[in-house]
Amino acid sequence: MHQRDRVEAATFAAKANINREQYEQLCAQAVQDPDGFWAGLAQRLHWYRFPTRIRDVSYDLRDFRIRWYEDGVLNASVNCLDRHLDSNGDKVALIFEPDDPDAPVQKLTYRELHARVCRLANALRNLGVGKGDRVTIYLPMIPEAVVAMLACARIGAVHSVVFGGFAPQSVADRIADCGSKLVITADEGLRGGRRIPLKANVDAALKLPGTHSVETVLVVRHTGAAVPMQMPRDRWFDAVVDGQPDSCEPAQMNAEDPLFILYTSGSTGKPKGVLHTTGGYLVWASYTHALVFDLKPEDVFWCTADIGWITGHSYVVYGPLANGCTQVIFEGVPNHPDVSRFWQVVDRHQVSIFYTAPTAIRALMREGDAPVRATSRTSLRLLGSVGEPINPEAWRWYFEVVGEGRCPIVDTWWQTETGGILISPIPGATDLKPGSATRPLPGIRPALVDATGTLLEGEAEGNLVLLDSWPGQMRTVYGDHQRFIDTYFKTYPGMYFTGDGCRRDADGDYWITGRVDDVINVSGHRIGTAEVESALVAHPAVAEAAVVGVPHPVKGQGIYAYVTLVAGEQETEELRQALVAQVRQMIGPIATPDVIQWAPALPKTRSGKIMRRILRKIAEDAPEQLGDTSTLADPSVVDALLRGRPR
Ligand code: WT7
Repeated sequence: MHQRDRVEAATFAAKANINREQYEQLCAQAVQDPDGFWAGLAQRLHWYRFPTRIRDVSYDLRDFRIRWYEDGVLNASVNCLDRHLDSNGDKVALIFEPDDPDAPVQKLTYRELHARVCRLANALRNLGVGKGDRVTIYLPMIPEAVVAMLACARIGAVHSVVFGGFAPQSVADRIADCGSKLVITADEGLRGGRRIPLKANVDAALKLPGTHSVETVLVVRHTGAAVPMQMPRDRWFDAVVDGQPDSCEPAQMNAEDPLFILYTSGSTGKPKGVLHTTGGYLVWASYTHALVFDLKPEDVFWCTADIGWITGHSYVVYGPLANGCTQVIFEGVPNHPDVSRFWQVVDRHQVSIFYTAPTAIRALMREGDAPVRATSRTSLRLLGSVGEPINPEAWRWYFEVVGEGRCPIVDTWWQTETGGILISPIPGATDLKPGSATRPLPGIRPALVDATGTLLEGEAEGNLVLLDSWPGQMRTVYGDHQRFIDTYFKTYPGMYFTGDGCRRDADGDYWITGRVDDVINVSGHRIGTAEVESALVAHPAVAEAAVVGVPHPVKGQGIYAYVTLVAGEQETEELRQALVAQVRQMIGPIATPDVIQWAPALPKTRSGKIMRRILRKIAEDAPEQLGDTSTLADPSVVDALLRGRPR
C-alpha cells in the first residue's frame, strides 16, 4: 500500500467524539470488565426496569443460548420518540424527500412523529393486533413506513418489512412463513418516476396459498392511483388512523421479546426469517450509530438504504431515532431526475453525514465528476459505505470527489444477522485504508479460521468468524431454531460463522473479500443461488439450473445462470427472455439474471454434486484458473461450457 493511501485520522480527530486512546480504552474495558462495559451501553436507553442480568451466552451446542439484558423491560418506540419529547420535541426527526424533487418536502418533528405513531398504534390495537402478533409492512420509503414500524414496536407486535421490489410470490412466502395478521401497504410506490403497484402485488400475494392468516390490509394513499379495495379486508390507512388519540400506552416489553423479523437469503432453501429482540438490538443500533458516525446533536444524517433491508432498520429507524437525530428519508433513486440527485438532496437539507452503498458510488462514478462538482456539498463532514466490499478506486473517488478530501469514510462491515455494525473505522480514532473495514468495534471479537476451523494468527486470509456474542446478534430463525444453529454455529464449533472470506493485514486491519457460501451479493442485496435456481426450474422447459455470482462493474456481483433444457426444448432467445421474466415475476427485479447460458450438461462430481467453483471460473471467462477438473464425472462438460459462453 502506498503512503498516500493512508488517510490520517488526525485532522478529523480534533473535533471527534472519541480519540484513539479512548477507543483503545473502550476495547480494553470490554475485555477486562465485560459486564460493566455492556451494562454501560444499556444506559443509553430508557428502561422501565434496568437489567441486572447483562449477558448469558453459550455457543456450545449442548447448551446453546444467547440472552442479553434478559430481565430488562423497555419499549423501543418510547426510546425512539417519547424520550426526546421534553428536551427535543420540536426537533425535526424526519425530512421526507419525495421521488419527484418538485413535490413537497415533509418535515416531521419528534412530537409529530410521536403523535402519528400513537394514532396508528391505537388503530392497530382496535383491529385486534397485540403483543407478539406479526405485521407485514410493504411500503415505499415514505414517513408512513417509519410510523408503521414504530407503531408495531409500541404495542409489541413484531414487524416483518418486505422490500417493495419483491414480487407477489416473495411477499406471499414471507407472509406465510410468519403468519402475519395484518399487512400495511400503499396504493403505489414511486421510484425514478416509475410507479410500483404495491397494492396490486399484495392482492396477488393474498391469492397465493398459505396467506389466509391475513385479516386486514391497511392501504396508505400515496400516489392517489385508483386501486380496488376488497371489503371488509382492505381499509384506508387514513380512515383507521383519523380520530385516534395521539397518545398510546406503550407495551412493556422484555428485553428478549421479539422486535422484528427480517427475511434474508441464505445459501440453501427459502429465505430465513432473521429474528431480532428488543433490548440488545436497540442498544447496539443506538450505540453503533452514535459511535461510528461520530454523531453530534446538530447533525443531519442520511442513510440511503430502504427500510426493506437491515440497514434501513438499524440506521434509518432504530439507531438514528433512538439517538434523537435529524435525518433525511428519500423515496427516490440516485439518477432521477438526473445523476446529481444525491448531492442536490445533500445541499437542500444540509446533510452532514451520508451513508450509502458501493454500488451507488460506482454507478455515479461512471457519470464523471461534473454532476458532483455542480453541487456544493460543504455541509458534509463524514461519509459511510455498507453492503459489499468497496473497491479502492471507488473509495478514492468517494473520498476525493464527493468528500473533497475532507470527510473520512467509514467502511462498515456487518450483516442482517449482526443487527448493527461490527467492523468499521471510528472517524478520528482509526486511520483509514481504502477498501478495508479496518477494526472491530469495542467488545467485538472477530477471528479468521482455515477450512478445518483452526484459528489463524497475525497476517492471514481465511473465513471470518466471531468468537463471542454482542447485544445486536440475531436470536433465531423465526420458526426454525435448528436452522439457526445449523447455519451459523455448526461449521466451526464454538464460533459464529459469518459466511464471509476475509484477510487481515500486518497492521491487524480486516479486508472483507466477499461471500464464501452460495450467496450472491448483487448491489449490496443478498440473493441465494438456490432461490434463483428454483425459480428457473419452475419453468416447464427447464430440466436443471445452476446459478453463480460473477464480478460486475457496478453491481459488485451479477447473476450468471446455467440452464439445461428438457429434451426436445429449443435454446431460443424467446425462451431466454421468458426465463428472465419468470425469475423477475417469482422473486422480483433484484434477482434478474444478467446472463443465461445454455448448458447441455453441468459439471458434476461422480456423486452428482454440481461443482460451482468451476462454473464461477467459466462465468468469469478464466479457464486458466479452473484448477483440478479430474474429479468430474465427465470432464468434457467443461470444454463444452467454455465454448458455449454467450457472445
Ligand atoms: C453481507 C451481509 C450490512 C447491511 C447490508 C447488507 C457484505 C456488508 C460490507 C462491507 C464488505 C460487506 C458481506 C456480508 N457486506 N457490508 N463493508 N464490506 N462486505 O446486509 O444483506 O445481510 O449482507 O454483505 O458479505 O456478509 P446483508
